[in-house]
Amino acid sequence: MDTEQKDFEQEALVREAEEAALRAEDSRALYEVKLQYLGKTGKVTALMKRMKDLAQELRPAFGKQVNALREKLEGLFDGLEARVREREMAKKLASESVDVTMPGRRRERGALHPVTIVKNRLIDIFAGMGFEIFEGPEIETDYYNFTALNTPADHPARDMQDTFYVSDNLLLRTQTSAGQIRLMERKKPPIKMLSPGRVFRSDDDATHSPMFHQMEGLVVDRGITLCDLQGMLDEFVKAMFSETSKTRLRPSYFPFTEPSVEVDVSCHVCGGKGCPLCKGTGWIEVLGAGVVNRRVLQNCGVDPDVYSGFAFGMGIERIAMLKYGINNIKLLTENDVRFLAQFKD
Ligand code: PHE
Repeated sequence: MDTEQKDFEQEALVREAEEAALRAEDSRALYEVKLQYLGKTGKVTALMKRMKDLAQELRPAFGKQVNALREKLEGLFDGLEARVREREMAKKLASESVDVTMPGRRRERGALHPVTIVKNRLIDIFAGMGFEIFEGPEIETDYYNFTALNTPADHPARDMQDTFYVSDNLLLRTQTSAGQIRLMERKKPPIKMLSPGRVFRSDDDATHSPMFHQMEGLVVDRGITLCDLQGMLDEFVKAMFSETSKTRLRPSYFPFTEPSVEVDVSCHVCGGKGCPLCKGTGWIEVLGAGVVNRRVLQNCGVDPDVYSGFAFGMGIERIAMLKYGINNIKLLTENDVRFLAQFKD
């Protein structure tokens, strides 16, 4: 092997290594190339092993030369490695970059149903006056829904409500008033009960639905009068509708109250002047109420000569419709999200 040929061979090796290294697309590939030349079984190492075939006096020069070659290649790879790593880092940063000016992904939030909102509000208002919640069953016996409420089988008032019967004796309750009896059988006065729940009547138009919700109230104690009822209702409408709301009682009839009243609230939209909501009258009917009929107290073992009470019952859908200006009760059962989303607070 003469020196010139060796030089030539080594230059070719450097060029070859350089070309292969430049083709490497990432640091992993570049490392593979580096191993091919500088690794334990690499080409430079193989070259070094050829030293033993040389004459003794040629060895030092040869060794020096191969070492120089090794250093050259190491320098080459170091430089290229740095470049590849830089390129990779730039690529990674570009792919992971976050545009902080982009709007965030909005997560849709649910909302309470307007009937639930009004029910919760009613509970809030009356709980603040000391009422406790009692919930009766939705399937009732004829006795609790009618007979005990002074509405015996042949009573014409049964026609006031079109009842869904489950059997001769069982029915879907038509009114939460059934809860009055269940509670009074269980608890001695003083009583301050609030009873929310679903009720059912075969009735169906823009303001009536076969299933709707009622909120019943019952107060029984010594010396309770109609005045207590109106005073409490005045507080209730102020809290529910507006600070300036007032109530008006009109005579009515319910078998389980005597006297019975329909309660109107002054229109919260026009303040009583007359508008489409109150049909020009300035008043809106909101609930039925009255002084608990003596017979009802007797039916529950409460002495009507000692105790008296008042009761009221309102439709929760009706209150929601008045409060939010909803003109069709069906909107409350269709559950169209475009409608429901409007009640987010
Ligand atoms: N239960 C009656 C109804 O559903 C409302 C009411 C309740 C009336 C309590 C008076 C007393 O129409």
